[in-house]
Amino acid sequence: MNNSNLADDCTDGPAPGPDLAVIIPTFNESDNVRELIERLKQSLAGCSWEVIFVDDDSPDGTAGVVREMGRNDVRVRCVQRIGRRGLSSACVEGMLATTAAYFAVMDGDMQHDERLLPQMLGMLRAGGTDIVVGSRYTRGGAVGEWDAKRVEISRFATRLSRAVVPAGLADPMSGFFMLRRELFEASVRKLSGIGFKLLVDLFASAPQPPKFKEIPYEFRSRRAGSSKLDSAVAWDYGLLLIDKLVGRFLPARFVAFAVVGVLGIAVHFLVLILAFRVLHYSFSVGQGAATGIAMTFNYWLNNIVTYSDMRLRGWRWLRGWMWFVAVCSIGAVANIGVASYLFRWRGVWVPAALAGIVVSSVWNFVATSIFIWAKPRRA
Ligand code: GDD
Ligand code: MN
Repeated sequence: MNNSNLADDCTDGPAPGPDLAVIIPTFNESDNVRELIERLKQSLAGCSWEVIFVDDDSPDGTAGVVREMGRNDVRVRCVQRIGRRGLSSACVEGMLATTAAYFAVMDGDMQHDERLLPQMLGMLRAGGTDIVVGSRYTRGGAVGEWDAKRVEISRFATRLSRAVVPAGLADPMSGFFMLRRELFEASVRKLSGIGFKLLVDLFASAPQPPKFKEIPYEFRSRRAGSSKLDSAVAWDYGLLLIDKLVGRFLPARFVAFAVVGVLGIAVHFLVLILAFRVLHYSFSVGQGAATGIAMTFNYWLNNIVTYSDMRLRGWRWLRGWMWFVAVCSIGAVANIGVASYLFRWRGVWVPAALAGIVVSSVWNFVATSIFIWAKPRRA
């Protein structure tokens, strides 16, 4: 193709990038996408904006619907992630994919009130504020049709967040907020990116306390599809808090791995007691069964909670299990070796046993995070 043809094809001159990027994490929201885009067009008429859907390869084809909309409107963009899950990390990647000066984060199910976006943008533009939070717990805000249990859980989570978030922020659990690029760039390398609560993460990771304002909104009912908030989200929130509190010294995943390990010891003893004491199998048979079952239990639980964002399924689950057994067997050999050596050297059995446990736990953790739940490494 020569240059004149190129010029014919590209009739548009350069157009400036948008001022505001609305970042929408999605997982199975295909029935909400079209309506949400229409509402954004209405609310943001006259603004310079784009919307970025960050979709974790939803089986319902959300990404395809977004791209279809984007074909007629450059403001509609899609970032599709494959083999990864997570609301917070999705939002972070959306922000990294735009040139906008301001970022809004909201749900893809119309529970957050898009009509507030222009007002939020105005507040940021006026200066002196880094982040505007849509709040259910300030005067005029509401949680909508939540049942008593969910209200209670949300309040409890809010209370827990006080360890890492300033007390003045009424709704740190909010998933609806708008921030300046500067705040994001100052915090992005320190973000944990775990789970659902990006706002907590942002506040806990910012080098200086962000200057914030809250505006009330009423949390609406989900339009279509179903909520992804489940017990795994609660666990992720726990991990996030651990990471923010002690992550500098100990990775949160290691803490989770260790907790699972302790539960595994309990399972081991349950099986051993059942086989050896109740069913009167030999000790070796009981110990063997207990070891196998406890290992499998640990693998299963780590796959669900410690590595919920990289969960293995199907035959990859089976392959991971074989690796896990292999890795932990090496860990057990190292455990016994170190403990026996220390015992011979010092003659004290409790510290020797503990040292063996520490060595094998660290080995198990490091090896499984490399060979089984491998995360794309930072360069
Ligand atoms: N990319 C991606 N990956 N998106 C996800 C994932 C994921 O693993 N899990 C959920 N989402 C998307 C959903 O599709 C939805 O657009 C949005 O994240 C929020 O998920 P919901 O399942 O609708 O959560 P919720 O309504 O119960 O809770 C939301 O609102 C609360 C109140 O503001 C969340 O934003 C909470 O963090 C927030 O506290
Ligand atoms: Mn929602």
